[in-house]
Amino acid sequence: MIKVLFVCLGNICRSPMAEGLFRSVVEKRGLADRVYVDSAGTHGYHIGAPPDERARQTMAAHGVDIDVLEGRKVNAVDLDQFDYVLAMDRNNLRDLERLGGGPRPHVRLFLEFACSRAEREVPDPYYGGPEGFERVYALLEDAAAGLLADIEGRLNRP
Ligand code: 4NP
Repeated sequence: MIKVLFVCLGNICRSPMAEGLFRSVVEKRGLADRVYVDSAGTHGYHIGAPPDERARQTMAAHGVDIDVLEGRKVNAVDLDQFDYVLAMDRNNLRDLERLGGGPRPHVRLFLEFACSRAEREVPDPYYGGPEGFERVYALLEDAAAGLLADIEGRLNRP
């Protein structure tokens, strides 16, 4: 099993969107029993809370239901248990590096997997309008394709 953890600040906007999207990508590819997907936040503001309404609506418009997800806070054990720990922005990455006592190769920015764009951070949409969530979706979709290719490469290695 390859384990993927998406991490943002609150775990109610960007990372649950990434979790729902990537789970759906993995399922469509027939890899649901080989890839485990989860998300968490660097802060505990929204532990136990469902994703933000705007995040849920944006994902629903793209055919992905994330309503049942619940916010949780990332912890040091996650850094050992997941094969990919993918931060949405550099602040999240810095917080993860602090948690883990320094940089680690599997703890990275998710957008490093995006092939067609120059951006390396998924902007926090929390204080903006619905268009910010659409923008997040587009960035996530691009990086999800690159991540899937990376994971398939790993799975196919002897
Ligand atoms: P997220 O967005 O990190 O993408 O889940 C945020 C959610 C909540 C807050 C900030 C960002 N907040 O300050 O409560």
